[in-house]
Amino acid sequence: MLLPSDPIAAVTHPDPYPYYAELVQRPIHRDARLGLWIAASADDVSAVLGSSLCRVRPPGEPVPAALLDTPAGHIFGHLVRMNDGERHCPLKQAVSATLSTISTAQAELQAARWAQNLDLKQHPAALSSHVVGALLGVPGDRLSDVAGWTRDFVRCIAPGAAADALLRGQSAAASLLDLFRGLPAMRGRDEAAVSNAIGLLSQAYDATAGLIGNTLVALARHADLRAAVASQPALLRDVLAEVSRYDPPVQNTRRFVAADGVVAGQPMRAGDAILVVLATANRDPAANADPSRFDIARPDRRCFTFGIGAHACPGELLAQTIAQAGVAQLIADGAVSQSLVNDLTYQPSVNTRIPVFG
Ligand code: HEM
Repeated sequence: MLLPSDPIAAVTHPDPYPYYAELVQRPIHRDARLGLWIAASADDVSAVLGSSLCRVRPPGEPVPAALLDTPAGHIFGHLVRMNDGERHCPLKQAVSATLSTISTAQAELQAARWAQNLDLKQHPAALSSHVVGALLGVPGDRLSDVAGWTRDFVRCIAPGAAADALLRGQSAAASLLDLFRGLPAMRGRDEAAVSNAIGLLSQAYDATAGLIGNTLVALARHADLRAAVASQPALLRDVLAEVSRYDPPVQNTRRFVAADGVVAGQPMRAGDAILVVLATANRDPAANADPSRFDIARPDRRCFTFGIGAHACPGELLAQTIAQAGVAQLIADGAVSQSLVNDLTYQPSVNTRIPVFG
């Protein structure tokens, strides 16, 4: 099999991991064709994500030009994920506070309920929207709308979105704003709170679908794993943790250099962009011994998939709860067998690895 041509092509490649094993050995370097610095090792990824020179958005473009003065741009501009420094800190506290009001029992209940009621084989991404929406107080009869709007909003804010995706996303963003502004839980809350509630839906959408899908791939490929989970369902939690490291749904993220200076030991210029390859850091032998071995009992696992530092994911636990319910339901439905991966492809994306089963 041909290796992927670069770390963007790797995201949707059938098996990017031999390529990543080479890439992780390379210190931070510039890919002239992509016009990006590439940070791949655990040390370089940690240094970039911890650098005070690095921002989540290009310095002159806090909101993508295509989204300016639109409902989607309004949400985007408030998102904790898309802001740094002084603006980021209170947003992060507010988002973390919202998530901390959700008990594990509530999350498990909603996840099991919607895993049972949805057609997960066809629409795995709808699960997180239903669960997160329900937990945020969206009425049950609006959750299906919310899932569709979340999909359209996510497609619209993706880099390089086509004109029709932008159009659909604007209408979806306006509908989400309308609904969320009217929720009892949002009464008296400002636009940042409303936007970040919607942001929880969009952050969860593709990544959780990828975690469910990549876990199905692991189970389909390893009969011993299927047997272990069948006899001890609680092991699924450990399987999800190892899949998150081994075949992560989010493979990379980006940072933008705000001022001339040194990042990960490398002189850089203001405006430079860095591809931070989380998937290679997970496979760095310096972070995880024998990194190509799939081991659900791995001691001291280091996983970069949920980010690290100021922007680390506050939804990791919730994501695992939702994915666990989804996978458990698919196993119960008899949907997980060796043949599942016969016609495996991946949804087009520059950063998220989401399997599509033939
Ligand atoms: C398997 C599922 C998920 C994965 C792999 C994932 C991964 C990530 C990563 C890598 C980041 C940091 C991005 C960066 O630093 O550039 C992030 C941020 C974030 N995630 Fe998740 N995520 C998942 C699910 C969720 C869920 C379920 C929620 C909430 C319901 C959520 C909410 C957020 C938020 C709000 C941020 C922004 C945090 C900030 O910028 O301070 N994520 N996620």
